[in-house]
Amino acid sequence: MRIKNKNKDTEVTKDTKDRPWAGPSTRRRPFTFGPHPRHTLVSLSFLPSLSFLPFVSFVPFVSSLAAALMFSGCRQDMHDQPKYVPLRESTFFTDLRSARPLVEGTVARGHLHDDPLLYVGKVNGQDATVFPFRVDAAVMARGRERFDIFCAPCHGRTGQGDGMVVLRGYRRPPSIHQDRLRDAPVGHFFDVVTNGFGAMPDYAAQIRAEDRWAIIAYVRALQLSGHATLDEVPVAERDKIR
Ligand code: HEC
Repeated sequence: MRIKNKNKDTEVTKDTKDRPWAGPSTRRRPFTFGPHPRHTLVSLSFLPSLSFLPFVSFVPFVSSLAAALMFSGCRQDMHDQPKYVPLRESTFFTDLRSARPLVEGTVARGHLHDDPLLYVGKVNGQDATVFPFRVDAAVMARGRERFDIFCAPCHGRTGQGDGMVVLRGYRRPPSIHQDRLRDAPVGHFFDVVTNGFGAMPDYAAQIRAEDRWAIIAYVRALQLSGHATLDEVPVAERDKIR
């Protein structure tokens, strides 16, 4: 059975008798004439091989080919199968939502974030003062790479707060080399990156927890290097920075 939808653009097909789980399918009305655009592309793809023909005879050929394609029609069975597109209403569920909430008490695989140090940066509700895993050279390299991607645009590669976005007018962040931030526990940095801070947006969605920690390890290295003395530099490297 077909019923007209209030929305002129779509029509609703009640074809759920055999498939009650599927709900109604609604679809955009296809173009009123001509085949599916993708099919047209496929059918015309051999044309370059005809380019040796003189242009004058080519034009009528193409237009008659186009006309033939237009009236040939084409089946769209796979396109018209019952399905829900995101946010579409369902008549099957009483709350009318086709997107179903998670079943209570279940956790999606890989999303059981039950380690508060790793995922929240807290120990007993306080900002953590330790990293949740060992910081080695690989973690540091990863942190440097992620910092340069996600933080340097605002904070600058050395953390002075002079990134390109700031040079173009974004609010200038404080230098990470100031005493307050050098003394701040690593959990504070994790909180800032995870939840945002003032004008700074949060990066929880873009940077996974392990990488946030790696970035913080690198921030700590930057802070150290900003206050290092020549004596702390390996003898062989000293000449490079003198
Ligand atoms: C879009 C620009 C931008 C990016 C990208 C950005 N920040 Fe920030 N950040 C800011 C601004 C602006 C502030 C100051 C916010 C305020 O005081 O309102 C700030 C503040 C901070 C602070 C200081 C918080 C405090 O206690 O004062 C830290 C630490 C920090 N950011 C870390 C990071 C790290 C780590 C990254 C990368 C994951 C990052 N930020 C990415 C703009 C940015």
